[in-house]
Amino acid sequence: MKEEIIKIKEEILSELKKIKESKALSDLETKYLGRKGKLTVFLKQIANLSDEEKQKIGRLANETKQEMIRKFKEARSVISGETEAGFIDVTLPGEKRLLGHLHPITIVQNELEDLFRSMGFMVLDGPELESDYFNFEALNIPKSHPARDMQDTFYIATPHPNPLPHPQPLSFARRGERKERGQEEASVDQSDMVMRTHTSPVQVRGMLKYGAPLRCVAPGRVFRAEAIDAVHEHTFDQMEGLMVDKNISIGNLIAVMKELINSMFGRAVETRVRPGYFPFVEPGIELDIKCTICLGKGCPGCKHSGWLELLPAGQVHPRVLEYGGIDPNKYSGFAFGLGLTRLAMMKYKINDIRLFNSGDLRFLKQF
Ligand code: DAH
Repeated sequence: MKEEIIKIKEEILSELKKIKESKALSDLETKYLGRKGKLTVFLKQIANLSDEEKQKIGRLANETKQEMIRKFKEARSVISGETEAGFIDVTLPGEKRLLGHLHPITIVQNELEDLFRSMGFMVLDGPELESDYFNFEALNIPKSHPARDMQDTFYIATPHPNPLPHPQPLSFARRGERKERGQEEASVDQSDMVMRTHTSPVQVRGMLKYGAPLRCVAPGRVFRAEAIDAVHEHTFDQMEGLMVDKNISIGNLIAVMKELINSMFGRAVETRVRPGYFPFVEPGIELDIKCTICLGKGCPGCKHSGWLELLPAGQVHPRVLEYGGIDPNKYSGFAFGLGLTRLAMMKYKINDIRLFNSGDLRFLKQF
């Protein structure tokens, strides 16, 4: 009986090979697997066998039948040009995979980090919830100083539960100076917290951690209690820069700035320098660039002046170096505070600052 089953199976397989169209295939299937088909009828005999034989043959019979059903199914899909998965049109274009996009601020930030790393600068990070001490005091802006009004600060109502002890600024005696520094700072309430209004506090943190000489940039988010409109946001991005070494002057600053601007815009952009006031630098400057939109002719983007304020900067105030534990008699430095958000707006000609934090994918997909 076993031989007979194998013989029928081979018969089916050899006939199947010759089949080229579906009518012949159906006929062949009926001939063997139909109710009165050859294999079906033959297998019915198994019922008459003894239990022992049934066991032996039954399994082979079943497997053979299932295999033949599969073979017919396969043959049918080959003839009709179908696969198990259904009809495939190989000429269809492939499915497009959606890739994520970098945020424009991230793009600008990455480019700048690369540039500064190539000039030997470290990239530092600092806390967004910052102490009043680092955000103001250590930057030469004491409590009652009018410069505190330059920035609308989010003061945090709850004081820091366990304020870190802030280092006392070192006192470096200057020629002709007797007064001991350090006493007045001791009274600063170190538990006061603010949302940092600028990335400048990272200057002092960097100096305290690494000492001089030092080259670092610190990109990050900053916060101001602003009324929001197309050009004002409560949350935006800056990149602080700091270089401290022997004999650093405004000349070094301007050289680095030009490098930065040229690489940012991919061409030489005309610049001008004006005096500016910031308590943590002396002298302070404002570096402007020729308006990238109207090229200096005057447009709404530059308030018809032909120039755009890009970069406040200056020579680090000796007091700030002291707060950073660096001797201003030996070292000098420059610092700048680049508006990353502003720069991204200029570079990509984005006319509404609110788009950056909108989470609107239609905006992000363009970068
Ligand atoms: N921190 C200042 C601000 O946000 C910007 C600034 C000005 C930073 C001058 C500097 C600087 O490092 O030297 O308004």
